[in-house]
Amino acid sequence: MTTPLRLGIAGLGTVGAGVVKIVQRKANLLATRCGRPIEIVAVSARNRDTDRGVRLGGYDWEDDPVALAKRDDVDVFVELMGGADGPAKAATEAALALGKDVVTANKAMLAIHGQELAEAAETTGGALRFEAAVAGGIPVIKALTEGLAGNEVTRVMGVMNGTCNYILTRMQGAELTYDQAFAEADGLGYLEADPNLDVGGIDAGHKLSLLAAIAFGTRVDFHAVELEGIGRITIEDIHQAADMGFRIKLLGVAQMTGRGLEQRMSPCLVPSASPLGQLEGGTNMVVLEGDEVGQIVLRGAGAGEGPTASAVMSDLIDLARGTRVSTFGRPAGSLEQARAAKSTVPAPYYMRMQLLDKPGSLAKVATVLGDTGVSIDRMRQYRHDDAPAAPVLIVTHKITREALDAAMAGMESTGVVDGHPMAIRIEEV
Ligand code: HSE
Repeated sequence: MTTPLRLGIAGLGTVGAGVVKIVQRKANLLATRCGRPIEIVAVSARNRDTDRGVRLGGYDWEDDPVALAKRDDVDVFVELMGGADGPAKAATEAALALGKDVVTANKAMLAIHGQELAEAAETTGGALRFEAAVAGGIPVIKALTEGLAGNEVTRVMGVMNGTCNYILTRMQGAELTYDQAFAEADGLGYLEADPNLDVGGIDAGHKLSLLAAIAFGTRVDFHAVELEGIGRITIEDIHQAADMGFRIKLLGVAQMTGRGLEQRMSPCLVPSASPLGQLEGGTNMVVLEGDEVGQIVLRGAGAGEGPTASAVMSDLIDLARGTRVSTFGRPAGSLEQARAAKSTVPAPYYMRMQLLDKPGSLAKVATVLGDTGVSIDRMRQYRHDDAPAAPVLIVTHKITREALDAAMAGMESTGVVDGHPMAIRIEEV
């Protein structure tokens, strides 16, 4: 048979071990599909003695991932360690400097250093591929760079953090508080070592910034993502949004506007009956819109051994076959620095407040809304028995972010709103 594709794998956690298993178990299938075998030459991880449930005896061991990346007998450096900087970046740079190909699942590293790494790859002729970095097993990078390459992409949306979706759907379905659902996700091992990466929206923001770069031909710019996590969502919001026909999701949206590239990762309301609204548990969904194709919806596991290793394998199989696509779907030098636009696209908003139950309260709120140009679409006041304040919900017509901010500030100063009013964007999906 022809020359094998020789791998050096750094990082033998869940995903790394999953890749080793597939390479071992499916050796014949992979060789047939690629026209050449895929072989592991050497591996590296923090602890050599950990039992990972895989056979590693036949491979060389390197303590230093940079040494692994530089080995002459490694064609593809497979980076599965994680971390935006440190050993992952050093070893990736070392491999690319030598013209080797790199396959990684590292969304943080690419979101922060993607442009320089893509340029480094092009300088030496190496490939840098990252299907596993976004939405786990969903082949969304391939969909954008290949399947939709004949389209102008108009919008990318997605629920791309399974942990947040799990927490929100457990709050909805099992009537758990945020803290209870968070503890449950923690018990199931869903949370990242730093939970704020999940619930703060950072992990999903990294993924969105990578998709936006491919979709709009721009330099990846994670720092321009408007980020908000799910920590302020209460069970009341979830119930009352449901009562109005919506579900709350940590939703990423990227679109090019007249004022620049808008990238948002924040809690949004979506219609309960929409595909995004029906997404349950730890599953991911990415919605892509192109001028020719219209809208397509991709749904699947966003994490876990099998799905993420499946995505890594798809990049490795491409390289074994000789299929080479630029990191962000076009030459790195042609990626433009987009102007960052902040919430410029008007949208309806859901507002929730506790309104003191006394004559004229509602009129004061209505006046603020009128004065700030906010038009009410629907409104509901709930029973509150003997409590001094009544829960009031308002769904607005489409308004700008500026109008919303002005209305929220105005309501706080009426003296009739108890605590802080809450607003969540309603995304048209
Ligand atoms: N922590 C992520 C999630 C998986 O919950 O979806 C890795 O990106």
